[in-house]
Amino acid sequence: MTEVKVERLKEFNQEILEQLVGIYMRGYEGMREYGGEGESYAKRYLRWCWGKAKDGFFVAKVGGEIAGFIVCDKDWYSKYEGRTVGAVHEFVIDKKFQGHGIGHKLMETCLEYLSRFNDRIELWVGEKNEGAIRFYESYGFRRVGQSGIWVRMIKDVGKSDKGP
Ligand SMILES: CC(C)(COP(=O)(O)OP(=O)(O)OC[C@H]1O[C@@H](n2cnc3c(N)ncnc32)[C@H](O)[C@@H]1OP(=O)(O)O)[C@@H](O)C(=O)NCCC(=O)NCCS
Repeated sequence: MTEVKVERLKEFNQEILEQLVGIYMRGYEGMREYGGEGESYAKRYLRWCWGKAKDGFFVAKVGGEIAGFIVCDKDWYSKYEGRTVGAVHEFVIDKKFQGHGIGHKLMETCLEYLSRFNDRIELWVGEKNEGAIRFYESYGFRRVGQSGIWVRMIKDVGKSDKGP
């Protein structure tokens, strides 16, 4: 595959939003209950992500095309932890780019970024999304709880973390 470049998203305009929504809808195809509830939900959610975590909004590009993105929030108040932790609000790769190592590249960028600010990272993943759960476990995330169909996972990071 052509070179994959990970970079911080610099601007968030209508055209980019449309691209991200397309990636989100296709990326979650077949998993409607966990993402891709509809384009208007996706638009609202991705706008919220940009407003909440601009500095941690990373995209992976393949030959100039956005192939996927990850939204990492360094300042997330977790009511489950009772304190501020890092959080992954969204992580999705366009269907046609899945399984080529792009997710790994984005996750590495995310961990490098959040471990500069946080000692713990929290994320939520659909209970039947076994592929993603395995992916997160390979990075040392562990399941610590569940709310409805969502599994809560955490990973401790920071100076003592050696990574995968
Ligand atoms: C999860 C996701 C972001 C991973 O990105 P990716 O670029 O496909 O992943 P990579 O190619 O870097 O890595 C593949 C690894 O992910 C795992 N994986 C994740 N989802 C998988 C799936 N649906 N099928 C098979 N393997 C999957 C594999 O175990 C594989 O592990 P390996 O590297 O040990 O072989 C991507 O598959 C995706 O967008 N999925 C749909 C959206 C989603 O579930 N997001 C997470 C929600 S919390």
